[in-house]
Amino acid sequence: MYYFLLASLIESADKVANTTSVYGAFLKHLKKSAQKELILESADFIQNDNSHQVFNEDSNKLIKHISGDILYLDPPYNQRQYSANYHLLNTIALYKPFKPKGKTGLPEYNRSSYCKKNEVKDSFEELIKNASFKYIFLSYNNEGLMSKEDVENTMKKYGKYDLVTQEYQRFKADKTENRNHKANKTFEYLHILEKNN
Ligand SMILES: C[S@@+](CC[C@H](N)C(=O)[O-])C[C@H]1O[C@@H](n2cnc3c(N)ncnc32)[C@H](O)[C@@H]1O
Repeated sequence: MYYFLLASLIESADKVANTTSVYGAFLKHLKKSAQKELILESADFIQNDNSHQVFNEDSNKLIKHISGDILYLDPPYNQRQYSANYHLLNTIALYKPFKPKGKTGLPEYNRSSYCKKNEVKDSFEELIKNASFKYIFLSYNNEGLMSKEDVENTMKKYGKYDLVTQEYQRFKADKTENRNHKANKTFEYLHILEKNN
């Protein structure tokens, strides 16, 4: 019940947050949606009779202790650290106050190697190497720190590789001239590996 209510609160609070969807910084003026009342709506859960386990751990440590048929990976693909960009939701989840520091008020946060250009390839290879799974799926896009070829070359070393590509219109929260990627289209990749174990 506690976690159900917590998930409901986090989802509902996010709907009235005064941000441009991430929490790296706050808007100076209250935007329209942030002036609305916070309404606690119940989080959506699919109930079934299966048993599940949930971990909150670094993937590269956890991978050494789990095994299965299918491993689905959906890591960050750019430098934007999730712990910084969603820190307020983490604060609600942990119910642990922090002292805001600096201009943006960010607390100390975990930094993922998947968001670091000089570490991501090694971390990814280590993860694939240590994975005791028959099939591995990775969602990544064409604007990521690892190129399509980087991922392909790493995965190929460990079994039979395949790729599915889907084109999308780019999400535009900002003006084109301010963006690093000026293209209107983006490609989502699903990298697939049948692993030789
Ligand atoms: C693209 S999001 C995943 C979104 C998720 N699939 C969903 O649908 O809600 C990437 C997630 O990976 C987490 N992450 C980053 N580095 C990690 C690491 N080394 N180990 C485990 N999780 C990590 C981030 O905190 C973030 O929650």
